[in-house]
Amino acid sequence: MAQQTVLILDFGGQYKELIARRVRECNVYSVVKPGDRITVEQILEIGPIGIILTGGPNSVYEDGSPRCDKNIFKLGIPILGICYGVQLLAWSCGGTVAPCLVSEYGKTAMRVDTGSNLFKGLNAAQIGLMSHTDQIVKLPEGFRSVACTDNCPNAAIENKANRLYGMQFHPEVESTSRGTDMIHNFLYRVCGAEGDYDLHNLQEQLIRDIRDQVGDKHVLLALSGGVDSSVCAALLSRAIPGQLHCVFVDHGLMRKNEGDDVEAAFSGRDLHFIRVNAGERFLAALRGITDPEQKRKIIGAEFVKVFEEETEKLPDNVAFLAQGTIYPDVIESGGSKAATIKSHHNVGGLPDYVDFKEIIEPLRQLFKDEVRALGSELGLPENIVWRQPFPGPGLGIRVLGELTKEKLDLLRDADAIFREELHLAGLDREINQYFAVLTNMRSVGVMGDGRTYDYTIALRGVVTSDFMTAEWARIPYDVLDKVSRRIVNEVKHVNRIVYDITSKPPATIEWE
Ligand code: XMP
Repeated sequence: MAQQTVLILDFGGQYKELIARRVRECNVYSVVKPGDRITVEQILEIGPIGIILTGGPNSVYEDGSPRCDKNIFKLGIPILGICYGVQLLAWSCGGTVAPCLVSEYGKTAMRVDTGSNLFKGLNAAQIGLMSHTDQIVKLPEGFRSVACTDNCPNAAIENKANRLYGMQFHPEVESTSRGTDMIHNFLYRVCGAEGDYDLHNLQEQLIRDIRDQVGDKHVLLALSGGVDSSVCAALLSRAIPGQLHCVFVDHGLMRKNEGDDVEAAFSGRDLHFIRVNAGERFLAALRGITDPEQKRKIIGAEFVKVFEEETEKLPDNVAFLAQGTIYPDVIESGGSKAATIKSHHNVGGLPDYVDFKEIIEPLRQLFKDEVRALGSELGLPENIVWRQPFPGPGLGIRVLGELTKEKLDLLRDADAIFREELHLAGLDREINQYFAVLTNMRSVGVMGDGRTYDYTIALRGVVTSDFMTAEWARIPYDVLDKVSRRIVNEVKHVNRIVYDITSKPPATIEWE
């Protein structure tokens, strides 16, 4: 039997991925599609057990606002509208939406009707995260209000007979403390979910799909050691043992011990692991180069050359190139005419034109945390599963200015101390990216009785969910103090440590 699916129609809201994640956490598979472009036929083809309409920044009564085909509301498929989604639902069914007299933002006290399917098993007093300037002022026929706040009489609505529901607040965010229970209620009490989506089934399904697609051909994967390519490698080696060739180009710009860690993680698996130690070659190509963009280009070009040289040595039956694309890279946003697909760095620096007959992307439907969970299930070590993002050009853009082996080694040691201390302080999962930078500034210091004239190391730590914007991490002073003392004491030619307290924008996360 086909897996049950909930369809999430996006109207430009910032929480679409979160809604999709919450649904999957309730053990129901979910997909996100642009709400203003999907047709009734396409919906019927997906055959969802329920549809969720997301929020969005527009006013539904204004021309040009993203809307869906009104026939969607007559399909008999259960629907839950959230924020803009509930306004769209009410407006499409003949209700009236207008600006609020008092806009509501933030955690708001609500009274919910515990007789409604949405709120069964909950207390009548609830907290919901509100963020709206419009609201439903007249309900469409057949609907009733099932929740209210002081300023919003229709904080949740239902039309039980037609299985149409909506919430003005956001059940998907943590500030709505029982929000996941409300989503669970919609899925299990209204949509008839059976909970057939879990990691084990998922892994079995992915393995079956890979075997169907690949047959007895062989697959090539450029392994960077990042989470996505590593999980991809582990999954493929489980699905098609002996048919996978992983090329790991060690460009000598990895962090301390990283190349060996990657190799160790894959040594016991049933795959052809090819490590190319190309550090000297990369350094030679980068000699005398100081401009960051030029460094990136040279590293990218050199990577392609090494990769191509290796692929020429592979057997002829290698017909597929595997890529670690994940779901957030694939989702198209709704609420705009032009499809905006998140552009992402090409981590390994592989060109788009690599000449392979077919591409295989086994993680295409997974979110990052599902990829990590799958990696653990497949027995990958913690340091790989929880690896923070690392730029393709590696330490090449963290040693500012010209690269030398000595500078890279110095940075590796300082960076390893910083990472170790953050790990010991239990901060390594809440700070999304952290690293040391070797500045090309030297300054005067005093050590023992002598004057020194040595390098400055900058530490960087950021908290971010999308890496497009980021806050500098408030690392406790005593942790910074310990890191600073250790680096200066343990790493030669460093006599000064600074901590970067700029957010992005205006700064970027990397220094180059
Ligand atoms: P910035 O410095 O632009 O970084 O704020 C945003 C995120 O992208 C990573 N980054 C790169 N990743 N190749 C990559 O694969 C690159 O050239 C590159 N430059 C930056 C950076 O580490 C951060 O996660």
